[in-house]
Amino acid sequence: PAQAGAGSPHRSPVPVAHRGASGYAPENTLAAVDKADRLGIDWVENDVQRTKDGELIVIHDTTLSRTTDVEQRFPDRAPWKVSDFTAKEIRTLDAGSWFDAEYKGAKVPTQKEYLDRVSRNGQRLLLELKAPELYPGIERQTLKELRREGWLDRRHTRNKLIIQSFNADTVKKVHDYKPQVKTGFLGNPKVEELASYAKFSDQINPRHAAVTKDYVDAIHAVKGPRHRPLEVFTWTVDDASTAKRVADAGVDGIISNKPDIIRDATAK
Ligand code: G3P
Ligand code: CA
Repeated sequence: PAQAGAGSPHRSPVPVAHRGASGYAPENTLAAVDKADRLGIDWVENDVQRTKDGELIVIHDTTLSRTTDVEQRFPDRAPWKVSDFTAKEIRTLDAGSWFDAEYKGAKVPTQKEYLDRVSRNGQRLLLELKAPELYPGIERQTLKELRREGWLDRRHTRNKLIIQSFNADTVKKVHDYKPQVKTGFLGNPKVEELASYAKFSDQINPRHAAVTKDYVDAIHAVKGPRHRPLEVFTWTVDDASTAKRVADAGVDGIISNKPDIIRDATAK
C-alpha cells in the first residue's frame, strides 16, 4: 500500500477515508470502516469523544442529534450532548437510518470496538481528538486505551497510527506523553509559525482551500519531532479536479469521504 512520503514528488498522496468511507456508509460507524476496506483504502480517519460515564466513543458532532435518532428516543434530553449520555444509552441509538434505511441499526462504536475492526481489517488509523477542551484528560485516556489494545507497539507507531487535533495544546500533550506516536495539527499556521508546531507535530493538515505548492513546500522544508520533514494531509476533498490540484501541490495525504475517487484521480 501507498505510504506517506513527505516531499516526494514521485509518490501519489495517500487516500484517507474521512470518518470512514462516509460518502457511501454512515460516518464513523463500523460499516464505514468496512466500506473503506472493501474499496481497498487502508487509512481511515475518525473522531473521538467521551460519554457521561467516561467511555471513549467515535462520533463527529458534540451532540447526538444529526447522526442518530436520539431526539425521538430521548425527547426530554435536549440539547442531546454526547457528554450528557451514558455509553449504555448511546448504545441503544440508531446511527445508520439517517444516512440510508439500509444501515438501520448501525451503532455509535466505542473507540475499542473501532480499534478492533480497524485491526481486523489490517487498516491504519488517523485518530482525531474532537473538541478535546470538553473532555479534560482525554489525551492520556486515549493513549492508555491505545496501549491496552496493542496500538502503541513499534509496528503500530511506525506506520499505522497518527493522532491529530485542531487543538494545538492537545497535540502537544499527546506528543509529550508518548513521543513515539505520530501527531498532526489540523489547521494552516503561518509559515513563520511552522517551526513552533514542528516541536510536537509531525504533520500540518490544512483544509484544501489553504493548500498551495508554496505552502506545502514551506511545510516540507521544516523538520518535525522525528527530524524528518513535516508531512501534509489535506481535507476534505471529494472531487477529482481538487484532488489533482492538491496532489500537484505535493501533499502527502488526501482525506476524503470518497477516497476511491481520490485514489483513481491521483494514481501515477
Ligand atoms: O481529518 C480532517 C477533518 O476531519 C477535519 O474536520 O470537521 O471533518 O472533523 P472534521
Ligand atoms: Ca475529523
